Amino acid sequence: MADEIVEGSRSAGEFLDPNQELDFLYRIGETIGAKLDADLLPDLALVASLEIADADLGAVILLGDDGWRVAAALEQTGQDFDDLLTRVVALHLNRARPAVIDDPPVAHASYSSLLWVPLVVAEKTLGGILLGRRGARRSFTTTEVRLVATLAGQAAAALNNARVLEQTQVYSQHLQELNAITREIFASLDVETVLERILNSACDLLGAVAGTLFLVEGPERELVFRVVKGSEETLLGRRLAAGTGIVGTAASTGLAQIVNRVDLNDNWFQGLDAATGLRTRSILAVPLVKEDASIGVLELINKRDESNFHDHDVAMLEAFAGQAVVALENARLHEHLQARNRELREAMRGLQEAQEQLIQKEKLASVGQLAAGVAHEINNPLSSILLYADVLCQETPAQNAQQHEDLQMILKEAMRCRTIVNDLLSFSRQNQVLAQPTDLNALLEEMVKELRIQERFQGVEIRMDLDLELPIIEADPFQLRQVFSNLMSNAADAMPAGGTLTMRTKRGPWPGLITAEVQDTGEGITKENMRKLFTPFFTTKPMGKGTGLGLAIIYGIVKMHRGQIGVESQVGQGTTFALTLHEELPAQLEGTETRAAGQPESDSRPNKS
Ligand SMILES: Nc1ncnc2c1ncn2[C@@H]1O[C@H](COP(=O)(O)OP(=O)(O)O)[C@@H](O)[C@H]1O
Ligand SMILES: [Mg+2]
Repeated sequence: MADEIVEGSRSAGEFLDPNQELDFLYRIGETIGAKLDADLLPDLALVASLEIADADLGAVILLGDDGWRVAAALEQTGQDFDDLLTRVVALHLNRARPAVIDDPPVAHASYSSLLWVPLVVAEKTLGGILLGRRGARRSFTTTEVRLVATLAGQAAAALNNARVLEQTQVYSQHLQELNAITREIFASLDVETVLERILNSACDLLGAVAGTLFLVEGPERELVFRVVKGSEETLLGRRLAAGTGIVGTAASTGLAQIVNRVDLNDNWFQGLDAATGLRTRSILAVPLVKEDASIGVLELINKRDESNFHDHDVAMLEAFAGQAVVALENARLHEHLQARNRELREAMRGLQEAQEQLIQKEKLASVGQLAAGVAHEINNPLSSILLYADVLCQETPAQNAQQHEDLQMILKEAMRCRTIVNDLLSFSRQNQVLAQPTDLNALLEEMVKELRIQERFQGVEIRMDLDLELPIIEADPFQLRQVFSNLMSNAADAMPAGGTLTMRTKRGPWPGLITAEVQDTGEGITKENMRKLFTPFFTTKPMGKGTGLGLAIIYGIVKMHRGQIGVESQVGQGTTFALTLHEELPAQLEGTETRAAGQPESDSRPNKS
């Protein structure tokens, strides 16, 4: 290699005339200056300078992030040369000027002369070349010094170029990586996933062993451990007071913090290692900044190759953090929007329900009004019919069987009319809740006892699933009886071939509420009928069997108790009616709202005219 440069020459210092020197320098420049391989350059520079200066020994040292290192050395250098090198470097590295040392330390008397030439480019020292002459030889001449210095200048420039190129390549590769990573992070809109990906990517990007992602939370701006990688998860959720430790400093100052020896740093909180079992050596903490405020901190711990964190790591992580913040905000916004959307849908549903109830109420009110009028009108003639039919029946001689039978028929049908009229009246008369402490369990037990002996319940198994802790509630027991009696007879009607009727009570669904359920294993209700259930006179039962008023009455009573009634049904499987009632009746019960379905509003208002 040396031949390439100083072809045919021996010692440059001895013979060179200005022309030769120029030619010599030209060739050095051509050879070294064109090299862009940073690994090869030190060797090249060493061999060339040994030749130029006719030196016996030599080494090239380079400055790196972690101090200096020997980048090229002649093989025969021994311990004594290494010691010399250390001393010379310590003394001359900062001086940035060539130096001829003719009085090497006594211990190294075997050297007659040393030449130190720094590798400097743009006032930046990259390293240096040390050459030595052994035994009793002459000192290095100024021409030799000048030539080696020129060579060193070329070598430094080439080295610098090679490094810049390498950095550019590394940087562009990192950019590509960063790009790919960012794209992956952005691909998710779930905050937790994004947080996890941010930390994992940061660790991968910088080759860190472990890391933590903190988020600033609450008015105190505490730092919360949100995602932990590479150490115990016991830290999750723990909080650091604002401004404490290395991470806290990063958040409060908005500046990246590098600590390569945590044991020497006062801000380092040793307790954490004890908690995680990790041996922290170095930390890089970069704040996640949004609009001049830190929203979190990305902390990386220990590089995998055990090297230190450097400025270029900071630049890299800061670039990454910028993207991460955007991705995180994106996901947060998305979640926020979704939550709003859900709320909106809930509100819409609530509104719809309220509207339906309102319509139902209005309907009930007008039907109630009508029913009250009709029932009242019919009640009197009906009483007469019943009375006279009964009288007629009693006065008809027993042997007149046919007439007896006809009159019995009149009586039976008239009675049925009376039942309907009574239903109508109780539907229209739902105007008052006479509330009193009511033991719902006891009420149901009592009702079931009465039902069991009725014929329609013969094929029905009645199960009681009562919550014995059920509180006494404030309600109108008479009206509740009507409610459950209607629900139970509907259930029995739905199970003509028998089945199971379950009466259930429980607390909830919220504190202060109780729920009572009437469940059957009957024929069920079709979707279409589901919507009409509570409409007065809606019935699917044959003429003479149902009036279609049962559920309308129930609805009115439940509403007056400020309760809710819900139905779940599967055709062929069965039906469950669920009633929700308050333990204590809400205060506004006494207001106008308690007016019965059948009581027109104008009745209760003072007449202004
Ligand atoms: N447990 C039930 N199973 C099946 N259908 C039911 C049940 N309860 C009520 N229904 C349906 O609701 C309709 C209305 O009930 P309701 O208002 O009590 O009037 P009625 O019992 O006089 O028909 C019934 O005709 C029936 O179709
Ligand atoms: Mg009924």
